[in-house]
Formats: sequence, structure tokens, C-alpha cells
Amino acid sequence: MNKIVSKKQLSADVYEMTVEAPLIAGARKAGQFIIVQIDSDWGERIPLTTADADTAVGTITMVFQAVGATTHKLALKEPGDHVENILGPLGNPTHIEKFGTVVCVGGGIGVAPLFPIVQAMKKAGNTVKVITGARTKELLIFEDRMRRFADELVIVTDDGSCGRKALVTEPLKEYCAGKPKPDMSVAIGPPVMMKFCAATTKEFDVPIMVSLNTIMIDGTGMCGGCRVTVGGETKFVCVDGPEFDGHAVDFENMMLRMRSYKEKEDEDHHKCHVDLGLDN
Ligand code: FES
Repeated sequence: MNKIVSKKQLSADVYEMTVEAPLIAGARKAGQFIIVQIDSDWGERIPLTTADADTAVGTITMVFQAVGATTHKLALKEPGDHVENILGPLGNPTHIEKFGTVVCVGGGIGVAPLFPIVQAMKKAGNTVKVITGARTKELLIFEDRMRRFADELVIVTDDGSCGRKALVTEPLKEYCAGKPKPDMSVAIGPPVMMKFCAATTKEFDVPIMVSLNTIMIDGTGMCGGCRVTVGGETKFVCVDGPEFDGHAVDFENMMLRMRSYKEKEDEDHHKCHVDLGLDN
């Protein structure tokens, strides 16, 4: 059982929740994830990333979007309530080294897991240029946190309500076309965003790491739910990833697999709204 210490609503559907988890706080590294089960042995297991941790007090901070039945239920929990189980840290940490200049791109909720990577890349001595994007100003998160670590921060929104009216690929392309070009790039966000970030960097021969956010069940390599094709080989995101060479990922196949449960998810989402009295 993990006690919820604080909860903050970052935007319409996005929440930041800090919970007691001293062992995970001490062990987690940038790029790793956790699996959360909110209320019973039979509850759904959802993969989330830790956006931050405080080893002194033994807490981790997770950022999640209330998009499905379980995340809605999690969003309704309050400080003092408990989360039944948190498993982690899982997956491989991000490969951090002094590359030189690293461009980090985050879209939507993907900005949260990008934050520890930005911190770690900066700590390793890199010049870190960050691009964060959202559909609109209200959905932008982590601006202050990013400003503390980024050498440059470019904010873009689809509607121009904050920063540049552009997709994240526009400033990414400008950075890649600059001289000298970046030595490394990282992208975390919706699959389609990562797909186009990979295509943009490939044009300039800039390497890119992407963190894949597939469906996960056990998180330990046994169920096969998270399988993806990378460089023509089958990989499991939970044990082989979650980060992969973005130029080698078959994004079409990944997006097709992620859509296979859409109908069922929509059904559960609607049922959850009715059960929780969120539909008026
Ligand atoms: S989540 Fe089951 S194999 Fe990866």
C-alpha cells in the first residue's frame, strides 16, 4: 500500500500525484517506468512513468492523464488515500552520456517522462535544447521545471495560444538543419508525434531515442502485450525498452496494435463515467 501525499491537477485531464514509495524513489532512473494497480488484486495494471522523485522523503511523483477507467478512478483519489500496489522501477534506464548537444522533444503528457531525461542529460554535461508541445496553452505542463534545466526551451502549441503556432517537428527540423547539428535527440509523446520526429531527424542523420508507450499488462516480458517491431525484430517494450532507436521502430505496426482495444476501452471509459457519476 502506498499513501498518496499530494495531488495537483495540471490541466483538464492531467494530474500530478506524489505517493510514498521509498524503495522506488531510491532506485529509479531516468527512462524507467512503474506499474500501478489502484485498488485490488484484480484491478487493472497501468504503466506510468515517474516524473520526479524525492529520495530524502521517499516519494515518487507520477503524472497521468485520466483517459481510461482506471486513470479516472486514480484521479478521484485524494491525499491520505492509498494506492494498492506499485511495481518498479521497470524497464531499462535511458542511455545517458556526454553526447554534446541533445535535443529533447516532449508532446502532451510525454513532457513528464521527458523531464528526468532532461535533468540527467544536463547533469552529464550536455547542452540540452528542449521542445515541448501541446494542442493548446491549457494542456502545456512542466514549463517551470524545464526552464530550470534546459539551455533553450521552445514551446509550441497547435493553436498558437502559447509559444509558436507549430508542431514540434518544426523547431526540431530547424535544430537539425543548424550547424553544428545535434549529436543526439530524444522524443516522448503520442506515437504519431514520435513517428514524425524520427522521420525529421533521419533526414539529417541525427540519432533519436523514442520511449514507447504501448499497452502493457505484466510489465515483465511474459504476456506479449507490449510487443513491437524494431529493426525487423520483435521486441518487448517492458523488458527490451521502453526506449528504442526511433529510426528502427515500425510505428505503423505499433499504432495498429494500440488501436485494437479502442472499442473496448471506449466502452469501459463510458461505463466508468456512468459509475462514477461523471456523465450528467
Ligand atoms: S507487458 Fe507483458 S510482455 Fe511486456
